[in-house]
Amino acid sequence: MHFLHVVGARPNFMKVAPVLRALAARPGVVQTLLHTGQHYDANMSDIFFEQLGLPRPEISLGVGSGSHAQQTAQIMARFEEAVLARSPDWVLVYGDVNSTVAAALVCAKLRIPVAHVEAGLRSFDRDMPEELNRLVTDQLSDLLLTPSADGDENLRREGIPAARIRCVGNVMIDTLVRLLPQARLPDAALSSPFALVTLHRPSNVDEPETLRSILETLIELSADCQMVFPVHPRTRRRIADLGLTFPSPRQFLLLEPVGYLECLALQRSALTVITDSGGIQEESTYLGVPCLTLRENTERPVTITHGSNQLIGTDMDLLQHEFRKVLNGQGKRGRRPPLWEGRASERIAEILLGGDAVVAPERRAA
Ligand code: UD1
Repeated sequence: MHFLHVVGARPNFMKVAPVLRALAARPGVVQTLLHTGQHYDANMSDIFFEQLGLPRPEISLGVGSGSHAQQTAQIMARFEEAVLARSPDWVLVYGDVNSTVAAALVCAKLRIPVAHVEAGLRSFDRDMPEELNRLVTDQLSDLLLTPSADGDENLRREGIPAARIRCVGNVMIDTLVRLLPQARLPDAALSSPFALVTLHRPSNVDEPETLRSILETLIELSADCQMVFPVHPRTRRRIADLGLTFPSPRQFLLLEPVGYLECLALQRSALTVITDSGGIQEESTYLGVPCLTLRENTERPVTITHGSNQLIGTDMDLLQHEFRKVLNGQGKRGRRPPLWEGRASERIAEILLGGDAVVAPERRAA
């Protein structure tokens, strides 16, 4: 059985790693790893391959940046050629990035079976490009592998037959469980305590006044607790445009994007995490570290119902208030959601190879 895995952006790499390993451990499996090149900087891509022990991608499409339409269209055009040349039995797509939806759409038209890992998540906010990617990918996929029961409900509500949906748990947590023992803090001037900050959502960073208000609040809070902020390339450009003055690094430490092992160690050691990332909401839930999410909604509600996550939106008074609660030892700790124990990828391999992976006959490749 030949599986072709499509990855493109930073959050895909920790999701594909355990699935590749779980499938590689089974007999009769051939795998191809394809990188679209959506993320291409060494610190957004190469370092993850190295730290996660991923093989070099056999196919690199080298797509790079562009508008959403340009990026998605280029991935589609180049991916179609690559997938036709390989004719895999299954294509696996991950998460909600432009590479995910582009590959799913190509496969659906070629009638190549597609499995979506991390299916069913919904923020119900169509202003987020990722929400559109999730909706379309799920409609086009033959097998929907969800991380939590809310995903199954969302999919059924959208009319997807129950036979195509499997709740397998969270593959990000498989990687976290495997690599937590190797987590190591970056070589940087960290104080104690510190708060970890990450920001890259267009809704927070593309509007200068929103970004300014967030950063000014964080600068104020840094008087009481060092802010450690690895800056995404998108955000770096926007911050430069604002011309803000930051306090000294002892108070406000701006870093280049960090590797996976460093990011895990930073989360584990942080007093709290202030973020708009999806993956970090999940990782901090697993680690029991209070997470203050600078978004109005989340497609990962179990991080709130079970975990350590709280939505702050762009209400900077609320951020101040909740941050002070954390400083006073009253941060939310939560508990781990069901099936977030490190074996989701085993369940995926079982489903794909156990013969019960449902593909509607009309969707199978001719
Ligand atoms: C993408 C995903 C988002 C994910 C995020 C994690 C989509 C729609 N969004 O957003 O879901 O949470 O990745 O990082 O797919 N850039 C570089 N170097 C790189 C990669 C990007 O400089 O290696 C620059 C690009 O030129 C662009 C900006 O960063 O200006 C944004 O990159 P892009 O991949 O378009 O989207 P992200 O914001 O990273």
